[in-house]
Amino acid sequence: MTAIRTARAVRVVAHRGASHEHPEHTLAAYRQAVADGADALECDVRLTADRRLVCVHDRRVERTSDGRGAVSAMTYEELAALDFGAWKGAGHAGSRVLLFEDLLREALAAPRPVGLAVETKHPTRAGGLLESELVRLLARYGLADGGSGRVEVMSFSRTALTRLHRLAPGLPAVYLMERRLRPPRPPYATHAGPGIELVRRDPGLVGRLKAKGLTVRVWTVDQPADVELCVRLGVDTLITNRPRDVRKLLRDL
Ligand code: G3P
Ligand code: CA
Repeated sequence: MTAIRTARAVRVVAHRGASHEHPEHTLAAYRQAVADGADALECDVRLTADRRLVCVHDRRVERTSDGRGAVSAMTYEELAALDFGAWKGAGHAGSRVLLFEDLLREALAAPRPVGLAVETKHPTRAGGLLESELVRLLARYGLADGGSGRVEVMSFSRTALTRLHRLAPGLPAVYLMERRLRPPRPPYATHAGPGIELVRRDPGLVGRLKAKGLTVRVWTVDQPADVELCVRLGVDTLITNRPRDVRKLLRDL
């Protein structure tokens, strides 16, 4: 009974949207994630040459679009002319790059409360401009003080998290961990985000992080065995490309 209650309480965050089915970071992927029951939507944000915040994972656009070049060297208009869907299959052709502000509006307009987990990319470039623009946009929607409980920020970079903490001390922050590192410490991060490979190699890590008072978000958890492992270890949030499948597994555990 306790195990069932625990599994059902685990938060499900859609990694780049329902990105197993749809092209990542597109409106279609995020709408599917909301329909699939995700508690929150994960996105990576980068600054364009004209300082717009867009949802793109890679430094360059080649993998996920029909264009060439670095996001930071292109204007929003140039990015908006590209096809960000066809790489995933002909049925997805015509998907456009998503402005972070449009994703924000989409989450706020969802038929039920949906959170946002925003990961800042290229943190050491642009001297903090990305973090400032992110906090400026969040503030415009009354979300920068963390009071809504709807938004959290994430980064692999302590520099980025420290900057974000200075700009918006109330925003929950997740320190992402790809390999063994010193665990995060408040104030720059209040949550830890180890990758699933790290957790598989060192399952005791979750307990050690929890013992320090940190909540634990694990990415990217798509396999049933990994879902079960995380539930057993007391992970509070699963970040997944397959929100519908993971939600179902959690219900059935
Ligand atoms: O949610 C954290 C995870 O997204 C970090 O890795 O490369 O998918 O951004 P990446
Ligand atoms: Ca990410």
